[in-house]
Amino acid sequence: MAVRSVGALLLLPFFASVASAIVRNGKVGANIPRMQLVKKVDLPHVGPVVDRNGTEIPPYNTTYYFEQLIDHNNPSLGTFSQRYWHTWEFYEPGGPIIITTPGEQDADGFEGYLTNLTIMGQIAQEQNGATIVLEHRYYGYSNPYNNLSVASLKYHTIQQAIDDFDYFAYNVKLAMPRGDHVTPAKAPWILVGGSYAGALTSFTKVNKPDLFWAAWSSSGVVESIINYWGYFDIIRQYMPANCSADVQAIVGYFDGIVAKNDTSAIDALKATFNMTALTHLDDVGGALADPLYSWQDLQPSSELSDNAFFEFCDALEVKDGENAPPQGWGLEHALQAYGSWWTSTYYETICPGQGVVECLGSYDPTQDIYTDISINNAERSWLWIVCNEMGFYQDGAPDGIPTIASRLIQPIYEERQCTYYFPEAFSTPPTPQVNATNAAYHGWDVQSERLFFGNGLRDPWRDATVSADGRGKRSTPRQPIAVGDGFHCSEMYTANAEVDPTIALVQAEGRKAMHKWLKSWKAPTPSS
Ligand SMILES: *[C@@H]1O[C@H](CO)[C@@H](O)[C@H](O)[C@H]1NC(C)=O
Ligand SMILES: *[C@@H]1O[C@H](CO)[C@@H](O)[C@H](O)[C@H]1NC(C)=O
Ligand SMILES: *[C@@H]1O[C@H](CO)[C@@H](O)[C@H](O)[C@H]1NC(C)=O
Ligand SMILES: *[C@@H]1O[C@H](CO)[C@@H](O)[C@H](O)[C@H]1NC(C)=O
Ligand SMILES: *[C@@H]1O[C@H](CO)[C@@H](O)[C@H](O)[C@H]1NC(C)=O
Ligand SMILES: *[C@@H]1O[C@H](CO)[C@@H](O)[C@H](O)[C@H]1NC(C)=O
Ligand SMILES: *[C@@H]1O[C@H](CO)[C@@H](O)[C@H](O)[C@H]1NC(C)=O
Ligand SMILES: *[C@@H]1O[C@H](CO)[C@@H](O)[C@H](O)[C@H]1NC(C)=O
Repeated sequence: MAVRSVGALLLLPFFASVASAIVRNGKVGANIPRMQLVKKVDLPHVGPVVDRNGTEIPPYNTTYYFEQLIDHNNPSLGTFSQRYWHTWEFYEPGGPIIITTPGEQDADGFEGYLTNLTIMGQIAQEQNGATIVLEHRYYGYSNPYNNLSVASLKYHTIQQAIDDFDYFAYNVKLAMPRGDHVTPAKAPWILVGGSYAGALTSFTKVNKPDLFWAAWSSSGVVESIINYWGYFDIIRQYMPANCSADVQAIVGYFDGIVAKNDTSAIDALKATFNMTALTHLDDVGGALADPLYSWQDLQPSSELSDNAFFEFCDALEVKDGENAPPQGWGLEHALQAYGSWWTSTYYETICPGQGVVECLGSYDPTQDIYTDISINNAERSWLWIVCNEMGFYQDGAPDGIPTIASRLIQPIYEERQCTYYFPEAFSTPPTPQVNATNAAYHGWDVQSERLFFGNGLRDPWRDATVSADGRGKRSTPRQPIAVGDGFHCSEMYTANAEVDPTIALVQAEGRKAMHKWLKSWKAPTPSS
């Protein structure tokens, strides 16, 4: 198998490429809500591809362009070029058209999703399908306007993205043979998505039940939640016990001295992390949670996983070559060990060459991260959705529930930053309109036809999926739900099934459902 490591650049969840990693360190502060993100998979090769008839067809990285409507409510506004990638390596007449979007990021480099390195290609290979990767509007180079000003972002809504699928499927002329004769009226289409795009998959099934014959939502964050403290709560429960206990002790201590306004203890703690210059204590609390986000980069397969999370835990839990017992070493050692690792190793990896306020502070609205409106700035495009429609602020747990993230971090922390990013839209910190989103697309209450959900127990986004703790949503033949021992979107990747039988089972169940559903495909009856 030719999947190679996605590399250390995926250290933080929103690292999508070398370029954005550098950008992140240069202009994106640490203390902003993180994206959800599916991972890139490296292509086995970029040379010519051969179809089922032995004919050479274009390489996977061939970029195609579709003229997409800027505003589905007002087609007279015109179109923009939406990028996509496409192959018919496994296609035979009658087969399905399988489409995905990498969601909230530049889609260039996601050609691996066309191939059997992912479930997309697995389904294509089994069902004689063709595959498409469509760049989401307002990401990468699929933009209605050439900047991301508030005025330009007017058509950046979940509904417009759903409508994009519809207009694309019915109007695209695919490069494959008879590629203008495979609209959803003539061939079964399957929508696949992971993470935010997994939510979009569920939303599209609810909003346009007849567009896609079948769909696969991987780690789909279907329920929009403003204070998404569940993110850290799942990490707390599944991370090594000693590390969890010690991080809880540190955070509990920090929140305690802040509550008591024990200024000498606060100053001492800041000095331990060389954060004396950081005057806003919620910024300190946010910074202390930073290494925890790397949990999201874990995958069962070592070819896909980035293990930075364990470097953090080792720094706290290995003392003189000895591992801490399950209850950890306790506050005193853990705090010193964390501070020394932070200042000697970690800080330079997240803030190279930057001052502490510039990198970790969130109170200067003139900083580039807030004012840069150039295109292909995925953080900004994502925050527009977050501030308006989805929330998902990764915050401290409510009182009474153990927490590994400071309780100083509450939604107002991110909502305030929304006013810095989009001052023309928000004069006061906005409350994301999650009730409207959940009402429109049914959130956890989704009841659809031929919609498969795959989830991972250790996925920090699981509490926003249909497999959230305490939801107990039932798997049914019409809407099966399969949960493996994976992390975020783990069952999307072929390599994970090779090392984890629970993920192989999730994939097998999903493929079986697709097989059954495709057999019953009927062209939709034209509406009068
Ligand atoms: C492969 O060849 C068959 C028989 O000639 C033809 O019907 C089919 O369209 C070809 N498939 C592709 C993908 O070109
Ligand atoms: C595809 O990748 C190859 C190898 O990296 C490169 O030479 C070629 O220019 C790429 N083609 C496109 C259309 O990006
Ligand atoms: C993927 O497809 C290639 C042919 O394109 C094949 O050689 C390989 O075995 C397939 N991998 C899996 C996991 O099915
Ligand atoms: C952003 O783009 C719009 C549409 O092209 C243009 O009218 C506007 O002047 C641009 N705004 C800025 C601040 O560059
Ligand atoms: C905390 O204590 C300092 C002096 O020790 C004082 O100046 C400050 O106003 C206090 N802050 C709060 C929030 O009570
Ligand atoms: C502490 O931070 C200051 C500036 O914020 C920096 O000049 C100094 O090198 C840092 N010291 C360590 C040990 O990281
Ligand atoms: C304790 O910490 C070490 C080092 O990070 C880790 O390898 C081990 O799994 C942890 N053990 C428990 C019980 O948490
Ligand atoms: C959403 O609805 C709930 C229940 O009616 C209500 O308590 C909450 O304030 C609403 N949230 C928003 C953001 O409107």
